[in-house]
Amino acid sequence: VSLVDDLTSALGPGAVLTEPDDVAAYCTDWRGAGSGRPLCVVRPGSTAEVSTAVRLCHEAGTPVVPHGGGTGLSGGALPDDSGSQVVLSLARLRAVRGVDAAGDTLTVEAGVVLADVQAAAASVDRLFPLSLASEGSCTIGGNLATNAGGTAVLRYGMARDLVLGLEVVLPDGRVWDGLRPLRKDNTGYDLTQLFVGSEGTLGIITAATLRLFPATPRHATAWLALPSVEAAVSLLPVVRSRSGGSLAAYELVSREALDTVLRHVPAARDAFGEPHEWYALVELAGAATDDSLDDALEAALAEGFEQSLVADAVVAGSPSQRESLWLLREGISEAQNHDGASLKHDVSVPVTLLPELLADTAARLDAVLPGVRLVTYGHVGDGNVHHNLAAPVGGSGDDLRAAAGDLADAIYDAVAERGGSISAEHGLGTTKRDANAARKDPVELDLMRSIKQALDPAGLMNPGKVLPADSP
Ligand code: FAD
Ligand code: MLT
Ligand code: ZN
Repeated sequence: VSLVDDLTSALGPGAVLTEPDDVAAYCTDWRGAGSGRPLCVVRPGSTAEVSTAVRLCHEAGTPVVPHGGGTGLSGGALPDDSGSQVVLSLARLRAVRGVDAAGDTLTVEAGVVLADVQAAAASVDRLFPLSLASEGSCTIGGNLATNAGGTAVLRYGMARDLVLGLEVVLPDGRVWDGLRPLRKDNTGYDLTQLFVGSEGTLGIITAATLRLFPATPRHATAWLALPSVEAAVSLLPVVRSRSGGSLAAYELVSREALDTVLRHVPAARDAFGEPHEWYALVELAGAATDDSLDDALEAALAEGFEQSLVADAVVAGSPSQRESLWLLREGISEAQNHDGASLKHDVSVPVTLLPELLADTAARLDAVLPGVRLVTYGHVGDGNVHHNLAAPVGGSGDDLRAAAGDLADAIYDAVAERGGSISAEHGLGTTKRDANAARKDPVELDLMRSIKQALDPAGLMNPGKVLPADSP
């Protein structure tokens, strides 16, 4: 009897997909990348069914590829083209298991979409602060597996800072129940943090106990025109000192990125009469009773103008205007998907080194492919920018793709010289796996391989992701 038959009798016919049309959605990601095809796709409906499916695959020696919302940007959820891997979708694990407003914890299953996690928190007047432009599709399981970042990191941290415990199905099918909603528990190694960011290579997250924070319904939001990246970096401490702990987002947008949005997002409008090289979206957020935000923002902007750090500013006067300003930032990824070929990058350096990094990177990239366009934007408050490269005006996607390796090396070299990261928030998946292995400290790589060997000795859990498949 074949594995597909076993999975079908264990999970029911509706939970095992084999037809090409049914599995196609799992073979490409949000960017449209991917050319693999799975043995089948299984859609278990509970932790117990995930455990059964993984155990059957383990007994058959068949690799498993966990799949959440398919919005990952490093190819981590894609099957290879061998036709021998089982894609395991967490989409049906959508229960909100419990909300404890007094204890500020929320327990949800892995397939719950991030926007629904945020809504579950709001339903008890709390905030779950993880916020990404993909929040309508990405799942909390994928967010934890990739240790997602997003626009609120500078105030609340990455996904790993927002989780208290996990339920995980291990590569042999056993279930680890680590869903303790305890703030403090020093009884051995921190297994929760080990699985966060492991991109499905150490086990499958089936549920999580998350931290909740005070709701911040009040906002003060501004879209700024800046003379330079240096100004963006110099303005950050001014905004912080004027706003105390209420700074909730500080995003950088280049003119190239804004032009891309203006070209493809019908509702987007340039906030100013003339173009500027750089823009920033700055947002303060506070409790319903917090009347200080507008004055704090005004004071910060006044000081910014005084120090010639700000060239122009628009402060949102209503929730709908706030949304139209956020659209200029959050519309970039989607807009680029309609703007021809692009090569995504996601790097970080200490914030103060950002201006020189961007200048150095632009020079190196132009030397590789003259006229290459840098669609630069991102979470400047965390020292994290996205360079999503586009072909030179009049150039072709083929030129861009042909130069992809050299362009990536140029970015990675500029980052490495400043002690930065070649993947700040998107993980390694397959797209940055080899560049990371070539650059990572050998001791660190060796430790990672030891962990992988210890938890997944058969190498069946998302093989070829994070670490090179042929790692000794
Ligand atoms: P998938 O793409 O399904 O999977 C991602 C990885 O996690 C794969 O390796 C997969 O095998 C593994 N995985 C998925 N679910 C599980 C599970 N339950 N257990 C174990 N492993 C699992 N990312 C950021 O960090 N910051 C951003 O600001 C950001 N903005 C984005 C904007 C857009 C428009 C898009 C399309 C993506 C953006 N992303 C961003 C990337 C992506 O949304 C995140 O990586 C997200 O966390 C992926 O979640 P997902 O459920 O789609 O995971
Ligand atoms: C974002 O911040 O929008 C993403 O992390 C970057 C991207 O989609 O390229
Ligand atoms: Zn990002």
